[in-house]
Amino acid sequence: MGIEFDHVGKTYPDGTQAVRGFSLSIPSHSTTVLLGSSGCGKTTLLRMVNRMVDPTEGRVLVDGEDLADAAPVALRRRIGYVMQNSGLLPHRRVIDNIATVPRLNGVGRREARERAFELLSVVGLGESLARRFPGQLSGGQQQRVGVARALAGDPNILLMDEPFGAVDPLVRMELQAEMRRIQTELRKTVLFVTHDVDEALALGDQIVVLRAGGVVAQAGTPREIVESPADEFVERFFGAGAERRTLRARPRPEGGWSVSDGAGRPVGVLDSPPPAESA
Ligand SMILES: Nc1ncnc2c1ncn2[C@@H]1O[C@H](COP(=O)(O)OP(=O)(O)OP(=O)(O)O)[C@@H](O)[C@H]1O
Ligand SMILES: [Mg+2]
Repeated sequence: MGIEFDHVGKTYPDGTQAVRGFSLSIPSHSTTVLLGSSGCGKTTLLRMVNRMVDPTEGRVLVDGEDLADAAPVALRRRIGYVMQNSGLLPHRRVIDNIATVPRLNGVGRREARERAFELLSVVGLGESLARRFPGQLSGGQQQRVGVARALAGDPNILLMDEPFGAVDPLVRMELQAEMRRIQTELRKTVLFVTHDVDEALALGDQIVVLRAGGVVAQAGTPREIVESPADEFVERFFGAGAERRTLRARPRPEGGWSVSDGAGRPVGVLDSPPPAESA
């Protein structure tokens, strides 16, 4: 179960071959990060999951169902999608932006609003922001609203396309921490796109490193990739500042293991102790 890419390819009508021969299993209830440089096909792959892009070769399956047989509109209402620039409706208040999908799904106005208020607090925003318009929020706040909106239809699957790309590094780390907290609670199947190595390490249960054309260079846990990069390409990608990424794990009082890099910065949390760890 989960999401399955089965020998997927995409050639756009103008002849651009964005993706070829892409196969990947994405397990449920965990975060998979697609990591790669600009133009390597990340957005194309992500959008295949909600049928904003249809593959020209191969199949994409969700919980065993071939998406070619799924109705796009219904699909988009049960799959959350966070775009790079939040994609909020500018003329609707924050609270109504969040309530959009539940309303489309036939949830009553009052119930949809109650749920939207709950989600505001889930993403760490105060109720005082509910009546504002998106233009009256900071970039980081807008991204949080984007996440709340994507969660509002209670989707099993959350697609996130460089959602924190446009905010400064500190806010970005804050949003990543928020995302980890949300994910510990909600355990959605998250497909997260980024070109930022540190972000991939911070959020991914599984990281898929892509070359041009959506070719998988390596797929594995953050630890596996950092400790044994498959080839020179992956090594170079992770190369800058690699020494400070020597991972260390410590048991956490609240359970699990927190992993930090050589500089002591937190990069993620593991359920079980990593093998042969010198904590
Ligand atoms: N509608 C389209 N028509 C033609 N070519 C396209 C179209 N959309 C994307 N492409 C091309 O497909 C390739 C992959 O694009 P895609 O947007 O998937 O990359 P990406 O990895 O998301 O890049 P970025 O990190 O810059 O967002 C690029 O060469 C792009 O120019
Ligand atoms: Mg993209």
